[in-house]
Amino acid sequence: MCGIVGYIGKKNAVPLLIEGLKALEYRGYDSSGISVIDKKIETIKASGKIVNLIDKLFKRPINGNIGIGHTRWATHGEPNEINAHPHQSREVAIVHNGIIENAKEIEAFLAKNGYKRKSQTDSELIAHLINYFYNGNLLNACLKAVHMLNGSFAVGVICRREKKLIGIKYKSPLIVGIGNGENFIASDVAPLLPYTNRFLFLEDGEIAEIDEDNIRIFDFRGSEVKKDISTVDWTKEQAEKGGYKHFMLKEIAEEGDAVRNTLLGRIDDNISLEEELKWNGKFINNINKVVLVACGTSYYAALVGRYILQNVAHIPATAEVASEFRYENILLDRNTLFIVISQSGETADTLESMSYAKSQNIPTLSIVNVQGSSIARMSDYVLYTHAGPEISVASTKAFVSQLAILYLFTLFLSRTKRTLNNQQLKDYTEELLKIPDKINETFEINLQKVQNIAPYYSQFKNYLYLGRGILYPIALEGALKLKEISYLHAEGYAAGEMKHGPIALIDKTTPSVFLIPPSPLLLNKTLSNIKEVSSRKGEIIAVATDKYEKIEDAGLVLTTPSTDLIFSPFLYIVPLQLFAYSIANYLGYDVDHPRNLAKSVTVE
Ligand code: M6R
Repeated sequence: MCGIVGYIGKKNAVPLLIEGLKALEYRGYDSSGISVIDKKIETIKASGKIVNLIDKLFKRPINGNIGIGHTRWATHGEPNEINAHPHQSREVAIVHNGIIENAKEIEAFLAKNGYKRKSQTDSELIAHLINYFYNGNLLNACLKAVHMLNGSFAVGVICRREKKLIGIKYKSPLIVGIGNGENFIASDVAPLLPYTNRFLFLEDGEIAEIDEDNIRIFDFRGSEVKKDISTVDWTKEQAEKGGYKHFMLKEIAEEGDAVRNTLLGRIDDNISLEEELKWNGKFINNINKVVLVACGTSYYAALVGRYILQNVAHIPATAEVASEFRYENILLDRNTLFIVISQSGETADTLESMSYAKSQNIPTLSIVNVQGSSIARMSDYVLYTHAGPEISVASTKAFVSQLAILYLFTLFLSRTKRTLNNQQLKDYTEELLKIPDKINETFEINLQKVQNIAPYYSQFKNYLYLGRGILYPIALEGALKLKEISYLHAEGYAAGEMKHGPIALIDKTTPSVFLIPPSPLLLNKTLSNIKEVSSRKGEIIAVATDKYEKIEDAGLVLTTPSTDLIFSPFLYIVPLQLFAYSIANYLGYDVDHPRNLAKSVTVE
């Protein structure tokens, strides 16, 4: 959570920091602030969104060629101006993302040395600690300070007496951007794409000492570390709204392309992941179980993955929520493959779960969108989704891209393990290749329709989302989308479980969204569930392929082009995302920045 950006060069840092913070606002938007070095350290902070900071800067402009900025997702202390970053201690200013777990201890140490905290934040203590150790060399002061800190911290540091920018990384993300006569730090690549696509990805326990022409990286013992430069193929246009009212709508519109890009180069005559994974037949044949671990939307992708691994590749698979998994001490067999899924590649619980799997010597594969992120770097193998930058807090195109990798991977295992014959493989592959166009068609069919019905459906306060089998995770994801951006209560449930409890909620004030499976067996069972709801005066919304578009009792049917049941998650999620988007937009909410949420959850 929290976004950090830093600049050193010849330009005025202020506009750059502000643009950077705007691109990072999805990481937190409780407050923001910047500090630049002019003759002294000049700081402007504001509570709430970055527009408030911009307003203040209009009234009191500041300038400087070295600066740091921060957008906050509050952990310690209310989201007000005093608690906003940067925090300053005499000559030193810092921005911090993470949590200092031994804050009390450090506060006591600092108090003995005459320091008193003004804010309620743990972060302010870092500024005091660095200032306490400062003796004419900022790097040395930082090296001393980090040894006293427990917890997680990505920190940007400036000091009035030095033409330096320092970046510190420990268990929170921080990268260095390499410019021409200017250099940068940031929480991720998105804010730096307008200036560079060349990066140094810091590892935990590393410090970058940066001036406008040089970047030196040290470990926490002070030894210099040599790092390779990585280039990232995202463009700045991908991180802009491109005429859409919200990033979320743009990102839903991009879903077909996101899936196409993710499949690109990975299917020729067959599924070819050999190049990327470099696994031999023996390794693959030894895999007798897959454990998938993730959070939020990525977890729902994992549930779909579990389903297809079992039902298509016939490999036992489980899907676990990372925040639960990591404390369960589940015994992992040597022949288990451990897969983590994460858009950001920084989610703390997912990262820790993988670290547990590694401690058990289990092979780890990550499915990640953000190139060079911590999870991607820590896993033994990585398959990147090529969704491009996802800015809206509500995940959409990353989800369908994660599905694309899971389908590719399932077909890849099926081929090597020979659990599908050639004809079956060919049929599945052909349908997978048609999915990007079908997603685009689904978007076109439903966009206007959901906008028209938004005023009516935004009146309800509670929704049930019901799905069976492979569509159950899509019911969960559809409900999550509605609650996170529209603040309407929505519960995802297995349709068959409805009569074991949730049916008690049904009356004319609680609509049920039914996902109609394109399969005769499951269809009839779902139609019976619809009758159970309509006979209790519950409103029905159905999502169905065009083959089943006439659903008796449904007040609204959102359709998709026809597809097999196994591929239906790709298409059914699109009208549900659009439905949630249209309601949130109609209600006038800040769709891209829903309250209390952050895009990347780097605290546990
Ligand atoms: O970056 P990750 O995929 O690891 O993030 C996991 C969740 O935090 C994320 O999917 C969250 O649930 C989104 N807000 C959903 O829209």
